[in-house]
Amino acid sequence: MAGNTHSSKSIMVVTIVIAVVLIALIVPLSLKGKGAAGSGADEAVEVRIAPVAQLTIAGHEAATSGPRDGASIYKNVCSACHASGALGSPKAGDKAAWAPRLAQGKAALYTSALKGKNSMPARGGAADLSDDEVKSAVDYLTGLAK
Ligand code: HEC
Repeated sequence: MAGNTHSSKSIMVVTIVIAVVLIALIVPLSLKGKGAAGSGADEAVEVRIAPVAQLTIAGHEAATSGPRDGASIYKNVCSACHASGALGSPKAGDKAAWAPRLAQGKAALYTSALKGKNSMPARGGAADLSDDEVKSAVDYLTGLAK
């Protein structure tokens, strides 16, 4: 009888597997049927969300392409050191710390930011910044100390 019990268990397992497979096949089909019946509603939703979807895409492009402005570069890159004065960097907005540096002239500050100076890494460590982007970040950073 032990063998019988075993085989009836196997049959039950097979039955359950088949049932699960059938459900997995039938449920998507029936959902598709409903979707087809209400496809007009689906289109209406697409039309309604379209402006938002397009805005999101446009916003994303604006954030990732084209030159980034000095303020956002400062926030994302330079503030890592300059917000706190880490590594002995002149702290943003600290007039006394910046006065002797500003006295060197903008060109020297641009060169330091582009090429690096002591613990100040070239381009603040963000090698992907263009020269103009680094300069606009210098303008923003030095502007905070004026
Ligand atoms: C890893 C830390 C760090 C980051 C990030 C950083 N700096 Fe600096 N920065 C320094 C340090 C340290 C100095 C002081 C260097 C010195 O005079 O020895 C400095 C100095 C400067 C100076 C003055 C240079 C001079 O000649 O007196 C400028 C301008 C400057 N940083 C701009 C930037 C800009 C713009 C960014 C972002 C793109 C940036 N820094 C990111 C650490 C950093």
